[in-house]
Amino acid sequence: MKTLLLMKPWAVQKGLIGEILSRFERRGLKIAGLKILDVSKEMAEDLYLIHRDKDFYDDLIEHITSSPIVAVVLDTDVLEPDAAVALVRKIIGATDPAKAEMGTIRGDFGLRIDRNVVHASDSTDSAKREIPIFFKKEEMVTY
Ligand code: CMP
Repeated sequence: MKTLLLMKPWAVQKGLIGEILSRFERRGLKIAGLKILDVSKEMAEDLYLIHRDKDFYDDLIEHITSSPIVAVVLDTDVLEPDAAVALVRKIIGATDPAKAEMGTIRGDFGLRIDRNVVHASDSTDSAKREIPIFFKKEEMVTY
């Protein structure tokens, strides 16, 4: 399967693109799609659909559209889909960086839950829904 990883504006602003990418590469996950882009309001609203009733929703949209992000499609075919989602979430750490383990991306580079450095799909269904928001089929490769 393929899953989506986003390096949010803080990650890009702090110069962490290479560092974050290398953690997935080192673990042996293949990069099947990669781009740096400005996120439109429509894309942000689509991505964060399930959070639209939350009190932090407006800030979420404001932040992800505030400056460029890096979108990555990870090819996790070597693993069972659920194991792949679990591994990616293990690499990024808990949603709240203050609670994330050291050695995880959020645990090493984050401090605030609303600026938690990265986003990753939390299930195979959400990966299927989220990847097309950022990538056309022809923008992804297999190798
Ligand atoms: P992300 O993985 O991008 O998915 C939704 C985001 O909402 C999450 O990371 C956090 O950045 C943010 N978020 C989740 N819970 C809260 C919260 N209680 N307060 C502020 N932001 C939150």
